[in-house]
Amino acid sequence: MTQFNDTELTVAVIESLAKTPDPRVKFLLQELVKSLHDYVRKTDLSFDEWHYAIDFLTRTGQKCSPIRQEFILLSDVLGVSMLVDAVNHREREGATETTVLGPFYVGEHPPMPHGADISPGLQGERMFVQSRVTDLAGKPLAGVPIDVWHADDDGFYDSQKASYATEGPSSRARLVTDADGRIFFRTILPCSYPIPTDGPVGEMIVKTQRHPMRPAHVHFLVDAPGYEPLITHVFIGGDKYLDSDVVFGVKDELIATVEPRSDATMPDGQPANGPWHLMTYNFRMKPGQGSAPQPMMPEKEEA
Ligand code: BEZ
Ligand code: FE
Repeated sequence: MTQFNDTELTVAVIESLAKTPDPRVKFLLQELVKSLHDYVRKTDLSFDEWHYAIDFLTRTGQKCSPIRQEFILLSDVLGVSMLVDAVNHREREGATETTVLGPFYVGEHPPMPHGADISPGLQGERMFVQSRVTDLAGKPLAGVPIDVWHADDDGFYDSQKASYATEGPSSRARLVTDADGRIFFRTILPCSYPIPTDGPVGEMIVKTQRHPMRPAHVHFLVDAPGYEPLITHVFIGGDKYLDSDVVFGVKDELIATVEPRSDATMPDGQPANGPWHLMTYNFRMKPGQGSAPQPMMPEKEEA
């Protein structure tokens, strides 16, 4: 048969994929066709709407660059990223909860010693972060690299600023756990911030009358050999966007009480030089495999 009604068309497209050699690829493509065709039938999609969708996806691709991933942003605001996270992390068995990677895992994460200030010269309230990495039984894991990154006091990541090309990373570092599984560093208290709204995803957020805000948080990627890579955030307790994160990424267990402190010294015995905040958060790793995502690398200028 060469002419199809709308349901026969779906069957024909599914059959056209029947010889796909990889069974998983075949399954994914056939299910995708079913869902897309169901959507078109259910909505009686008009040509104008279909053209709008094609144009929107085209512009989403055109907005992507080595340090800007508009498709991940789209996946994030539609809740797809958190759904993929949910179906892949159903059983945590007491391990720390996971959340979205986000589009700002980019560039170099400079190795820093314990106690280092990873945000030197930045405006903002000072914060001391201390953390310990253990297995599910509480055994400390030594020598584990942890990438951290967060927004500044104006809500921008280093890679969003023109100064990134000349000044390099800030509020972004790699620390390695000591023999007791610990890391600690100084930084500034991040604030809540809007996701980038100067692209098609932002256009959708505005047109659907959603707010673009994410509650304040610090990103952590903990990559211990023999354990599932842990991609997570620690959220600052009390933030007003915790209940309405634009990317649906908040989990109760990831909210930390960040204490305002006025002690003259920080936990490592060094002078505080004014009021500061203390973030304490420990990570429990789940045994398993998996490769951690690599940061997107900005293009280097040709010499
Ligand atoms: C972030 O936390 O960096 C982020 C996550 C998802 C979308 C936009 C930003
Ligand atoms: Fe973030």
